[in-house]
Amino acid sequence: MKFFVDTANVSEIQELSDYGLVDGVTTNPSLIAKSGRNFKEVVAEICKIVSGPVSAEVAALDYDGMIAEGTVLSKIAPNIVVKLPLTLIGLKACRAFVSQGVKTNVTLCFSPNQALLAAKAGATYISPFLGRLDDIHLDGVQLIRDIRKIYDNYQFKTQILSASVRTANHVKEVALAGSDVATVPAAVIKGLANHVLTDRGLEQFVKDWKSTGQSIL
Ligand code: E4P
Repeated sequence: MKFFVDTANVSEIQELSDYGLVDGVTTNPSLIAKSGRNFKEVVAEICKIVSGPVSAEVAALDYDGMIAEGTVLSKIAPNIVVKLPLTLIGLKACRAFVSQGVKTNVTLCFSPNQALLAAKAGATYISPFLGRLDDIHLDGVQLIRDIRKIYDNYQFKTQILSASVRTANHVKEVALAGSDVATVPAAVIKGLANHVLTDRGLEQFVKDWKSTGQSIL
């Protein structure tokens, strides 16, 4: 499973990239607002750090606006993926971008049928938001399992990009469900390396090594 980092914070992306933990990046209007940066500038900077796919979301809700904005965004760098909302108009825009060879990420997916429509529109990625389903006491991971089954039934090429991932357990569950990608906040990605028994074991090894009085170098 690929890891995309779900942020528009360039220093977070750089740090994770240095650890080799970034296969791509997703941004959305809320993350851009949080960064306090100019959208096109920050996305261009991210594309210089990361060679993998970088999702940049249109703000328009009408067809012509989505096409105009998506066209501008797609020209920022070759690894830009145009992110479009899962509405009928967003799906129409998705088809248009697909026909031009522009990569697309259809976002704000909350049901298997929405994911089916995105695949039929030829989306490169579908972004089901599992954390927001959990927030309203529905089973977000089950949505990923259902989409996996449907896509496999019909050999759809659209990649499942599990989004709104909030916890280490979410990461494990979507990996078990066969998600192609998970987009995850930087702190959660770093947290995946942690285990209390790793810390305890290392502490003991350090203590025992010191007691030998030896040096490897
Ligand atoms: C990424 O593409 C999504 O916009 C993001 O994962 C949403 O996460 P949130 O529900 O935590 O805001």
